[in-house]
Amino acid sequence: MTAAATTVRDIALEQPASIRVFEKFGIDYCCGGRKAIALACQERSLDLQTVLAAIESAAHGEGEPAQEWASASLEALCEHIVKTHHDYVRREIPRLWLLAQKVVARHGDTHPELVHIQQLIRGAGEDLIQHLGKEEQILFPSIVNMERNLTACGPRSLGCFGSVRNPIRVMMAEHDAAGDALAQIRRLSHDFVPPEGACPTYVGFYRALAEFEQDLHRHVHLENNILFPRAIEMDESCG
Ligand SMILES: [Fe+2]
Ligand SMILES: [Fe+2]
Repeated sequence: MTAAATTVRDIALEQPASIRVFEKFGIDYCCGGRKAIALACQERSLDLQTVLAAIESAAHGEGEPAQEWASASLEALCEHIVKTHHDYVRREIPRLWLLAQKVVARHGDTHPELVHIQQLIRGAGEDLIQHLGKEEQILFPSIVNMERNLTACGPRSLGCFGSVRNPIRVMMAEHDAAGDALAQIRRLSHDFVPPEGACPTYVGFYRALAEFEQDLHRHVHLENNILFPRAIEMDESCG
């Protein structure tokens, strides 16, 4: 059984099937994952033993495919992130903006929290689109070049492409900002639960936001917890 003091991030890394449990209980395992599972449960008013038991039983079910990324090439991981998560963000953000516009026009007067959610998703969406561009144009190519160079020349070879630590630090700060915006949206929307009798657009908007948060958590988990630490380790081996 997992210890109460183990961090959420470490559980997600060591037992990838736990990610589904964290999603189900609304526990942040990526940006906010550096805290003990006991504290994360306390903050969400969840019973620790119930969550630990769910993690235990998930571990005996199907494994998450994310497991393989701990040993795949960084180039393959970067490609996967772009094709799976970056493309999704680019597709979803305009759709979320449109849905937000519709629900605010129809229900913003009786549900003022929708106006706040609309502002948050607009700001976070604009920032995220820029963020994807920086990863695709600057950071990911640096990581891929570093890996290719190391594979070709061996450790301690010349020509590693400068430290990846600085761009990684910037990307992680941007992940925190996006995670904070989504956490605020989750609070304002009462965990993405629409009011009784809400119209289909309202329901669809909240469902789309919940899916967007889930994808963002998976995306940031792959970057913060797998890609970036492996890239830093490789950078250090360049000497
Ligand atoms: Fe990304
Ligand atoms: Fe990112």
